[in-house]
Amino acid sequence: KKQVIFDTDPGPDDGVAILTGLGSPLIEVLGVCAVAGNVPLHHTVRNVRKILELAERQEVPVFAGAEAPLARPLFTAEYVHGKTGFDGYDLPEPSMPVQPQHAADFIVEEVMSRPPRRVTICALGPLTNIAMALERDERIAGRLEQIVWMGGALSEGGNVTPAAEFNCYVDPEAAARVLSSGAHVVMMPLDVTHKAHVTADRIERFRTMGNKVGPIFADLLTYAKQFDWQKYGADRAPMHDPTTVVWLLQPELFSGRKVNVEVETISPLTTGMTVIDWWGVTKRQKNAYVVRDVDTEGFYDVVFESFRNMP
Ligand code: BDR
Ligand code: CA
Repeated sequence: KKQVIFDTDPGPDDGVAILTGLGSPLIEVLGVCAVAGNVPLHHTVRNVRKILELAERQEVPVFAGAEAPLARPLFTAEYVHGKTGFDGYDLPEPSMPVQPQHAADFIVEEVMSRPPRRVTICALGPLTNIAMALERDERIAGRLEQIVWMGGALSEGGNVTPAAEFNCYVDPEAAARVLSSGAHVVMMPLDVTHKAHVTADRIERFRTMGNKVGPIFADLLTYAKQFDWQKYGADRAPMHDPTTVVWLLQPELFSGRKVNVEVETISPLTTGMTVIDWWGVTKRQKNAYVVRDVDTEGFYDVVFESFRNMP
């Protein structure tokens, strides 16, 4: 089994990613770390616990991490996901505990106490917690199996500014820190998540899954899609974060390249832009495997297979 830590700022697509992991017999979820992103930390911590309780997996430990990015005020996305991050379905107030340990300390402890290259981090939000963990003990970079991050954009342009993708825009310093750490980073930019369309048909597949969780996610995704369908055109909303988990389960559905990626942290116009040397025009070190394509049908098959194992 792959041993996975989720680091996340739910958001419904974060929820789909976590449930895809929890529903797979090939993944062991070691813990879920919350970070501020789509909504402030108190909401993301609560949303993580709502997801775990929905999956009836209260034994998975939950950790709270950073309340704000490393070097800037938090920028949030209530305009997409609503005030709670989970508007569209009223999930019951969770009762499971939050662990006392900081998410960054949990990451360090968990990675260092297991054999080398066993633990993978699925990073579904701004990289603040992971950058903090690297600050605490940079040996985790070489000890992790991989960090699979949904973030950045290659030729697709940004979704929060013309240049920047949301997770990278919120904490560009953290993204730069992680990308220069020497860890094996796999990046799922908007170029791939914009190919994993949530369509009305696919929402219907969630709704008619025959379990409790499927229809709830049909409602949550429908809420977020009101915004996305306006922005990207009817029936073509991106599904971002689950690409990370599906990569772990079926990497052959994706294609990409190992390249150099740098993050802009200074220019007001392009802050949070991922500058990706796709054609190898510099001698800079290849520090990430950037995915560009996905077999969309295959991707949804993996997601639905896991979801069918949900209560
Ligand atoms: C990313 O931003 C968030 O709103 C989504 O959950 C995803 O992680 C996409 O840019
Ligand atoms: Ca996210």
